[in-house]
Formats: sequence, structure tokens, C-alpha cells
Amino acid sequence: MKKIYLILMSIGLIGMNMGCERRSREPNVELIQDMMVSPAVKAQDDDANSMKLPPEGTVPQGWTPYRMKSAEEAAEKLKNPFERSLENTMKGQKLYLTYCVSCHGAAGDGKGLIAEKWPAPIPGLTTKIVRDFKDGHIYHIVTVGRGLMSSYASQIRPDDRWLIINYIRHMQDNTIAAQDGAH
Ligand code: HEC
Repeated sequence: MKKIYLILMSIGLIGMNMGCERRSREPNVELIQDMMVSPAVKAQDDDANSMKLPPEGTVPQGWTPYRMKSAEEAAEKLKNPFERSLENTMKGQKLYLTYCVSCHGAAGDGKGLIAEKWPAPIPGLTTKIVRDFKDGHIYHIVTVGRGLMSSYASQIRPDDRWLIINYIRHMQDNTIAAQDGAH
């Protein structure tokens, strides 16, 4: 009788071992099912709690709400905290080449790679129109988007938006210098 127990136990142990060792895509034999099936919330499952909005009136830590209602208000109230030093311009260049160049082009002339396929002309950033925009106005466009250009608020941190604007000013100066040279 004892022998039979021993044999059965060995078979059982070998079986469990195989279950653990197996590296296949098949699920293991579930001898002990504790915690194998958990009531975890699946991402984007709309009848679970995964898609809940944050409670009203709360903000995530370290996040400052953007309160400007229009580009005009932003132009008037927001000031660029960065001076136009060489270092800041270089930082802005790196960011511009990451986030804006695909549409607005390396020279800021609106002839980026995407421009050929875009349904409407993409405006340049060295035009008189944008030269006359205050920094806050451009900041507003990058933050909330405008027309076919979407908001970049979730991709570009506030400080980085200002640095990009410094680089746009640099491109504008270059364009004017080139035009002056041509006369
Ligand atoms: C996917 C393409 C795309 C990208 C990337 C993009 N833009 Fe734009 N941008 C546009 C389009 C299209 C418009 C015209 C929007 C409209 O319909 O009013 C525009 C308009 C603008 C304007 C207003 C120009 C004017 O003449 O009034 C500014 C300023 C601007 N973008 C800055 C930026 C900056 C800075 C970045 C990078 C952070 C950026 N854009 C990234 C497509 C893009």
C-alpha cells in the first residue's frame, strides 16, 4: 500500500515539475489555481474602472493647468522666461528638429517632408505674420493647437516650448539676414 502512495506522489511531483519547467506558449496544467485567474482590470475595458476620469477639480501632481483662453490673451500675459543665449538657441534647435521640422521645414519655410502630402499649405514660421506674433502667441498655438495643427502640450514640456520659440526667432533673423544680403 505504501508503495502505491510513493509511486502516485512521484508521478504527481514529476507532473508539477513539468508544469513549471515548460517554456511553451500553452498554459501550464493548473494544479493549484490560487491567483492564476485574477480579477485584474484590463486596459481600456469600458465597463471596468479603467477608463475613469480623474475626480472633478483635481490635477495630477507637478502639472500646472493652462488658463489662457486665446492667443491674444497669451500674447499679452505670458513672457518667455529664457533669454536668447547661444545655449538656449541650440537647445531649441534640437527640440524644433524633433517636433516641428517634419511640417514646418528645417529653414522654417513650411516645406517639411509632410508638407507635400498635407491637404493644405503649411505656413512658414519666418513670415512677417509669425515674426509679428509675440512669444506668448506662438506658445499658445503649440500648447492648444490651431486648425489642422494639433496640440503639443502632452509631448513638449512648457520650458521646451519656450526654447523652441527662441530657435524660431533665430531662424527668422537668419531669413531676414539672407534677404538683406540678396538686395
Ligand atoms: C503635423 C504637422 C505640423 C507640425 C508637426 C507642427 N505644425 Fe505648426 N502648423 C501646422 C499647420 C497645418 C498649421 C496651420 C494651422 C491652421 O490651419 O491654422 C500650423 C501653424 C503653426 C503656426 C501659426 C503660423 C501662422 O502663420 O499663423 C505656428 C506658430 C506653428 N504652427 C508652430 C509650430 C511649432 C513651434 C511646432 C513644433 C512644436 C509645430 N508648429 C509643429 C502643422 C504642423
